[in-house]
Amino acid sequence: MDSEIIFETVKLRKEFGALVAVDDVSIKVRRNTLHAIIGPNGAGKTTFFNLLSGNIEPTSGQVIYKGRDITHQPVHRTIHFGIGRSFQITNIFPNLTVFENVRLACQALGADNFKFWRAAPAFQKYEQRTWEVLERVGLKDRAFTLARTLPHGDQRKLELGMILAPDPEVLLLDEPTAGMAAEQVPELIALIQEIQRAGDKTVMLVEHNMNVVMSVSDTITVMHLGQVLAEGTPSEIAANKEVQTAYLGGLYELNV
Ligand SMILES: Nc1ncnc2c1ncn2[C@@H]1O[C@H](COP(=O)(O)OP(=O)(O)O)[C@@H](O)[C@H]1O
Ligand SMILES: [Mg+2]
Repeated sequence: MDSEIIFETVKLRKEFGALVAVDDVSIKVRRNTLHAIIGPNGAGKTTFFNLLSGNIEPTSGQVIYKGRDITHQPVHRTIHFGIGRSFQITNIFPNLTVFENVRLACQALGADNFKFWRAAPAFQKYEQRTWEVLERVGLKDRAFTLARTLPHGDQRKLELGMILAPDPEVLLLDEPTAGMAAEQVPELIALIQEIQRAGDKTVMLVEHNMNVVMSVSDTITVMHLGQVLAEGTPSEIAANKEVQTAYLGGLYELNV
């Protein structure tokens, strides 16, 4: 086993009837990197994340996490292994406060997970962890605001906080900037990058904004029709003729 590889898929496949949404995808994700998955709508990115997190079962193939086969582990187990994920659609409780949302996300995993406060009662561990997470994502001042009244950008930060709550090693972020005003995107992306770097975490990111992808990724995997079309560093991907034709339409000029 290569200890630098945290996640690996081996010929991972998902069919929906006659449709092959993920077509024998084999990739390796290095630990402590930001690894983007890009590709047009319908390429299979979300389905691929669902397979990694155990939200759905593959038709065939394997998912290996830290050298262990987790292919048939359901999502309530993968979260305990340190895999956190977001959904394309915001997943917060609108009528609860920011604080309550994050605390619920902490509680979902149980106090045992926060061993660093071994002596404290469970509720105290959750509260401490909640404040720590709110500080991390810059929402401390909004703790007692109802989630539904938050500006959209802050809702996405809250969602990030909820994923961070159980302190996962890997974050699977499916279009975390979706629906955000363009001028808010850099702040959220900077936050994600900071969390990845400072926290020794591995981030897998589906993102449509090419400037974002090119500027923050260590590795980019390009999916097209369920398959891996190309993989490489941002500059390798930018220079790849097949990618330009299939995905970027030859229109995207890069300065990397
Ligand atoms: N639950 C499902 N049932 C049937 N088809 C699905 C299902 N989920 C996704 N698909 C199909 O699989 C393909 C890949 O979808 P998806 O993974 O959502 O792509 P992406 O996230 O890259 O836009 C699409 O053709 C989509 O319509
Ligand atoms: Mg998707």
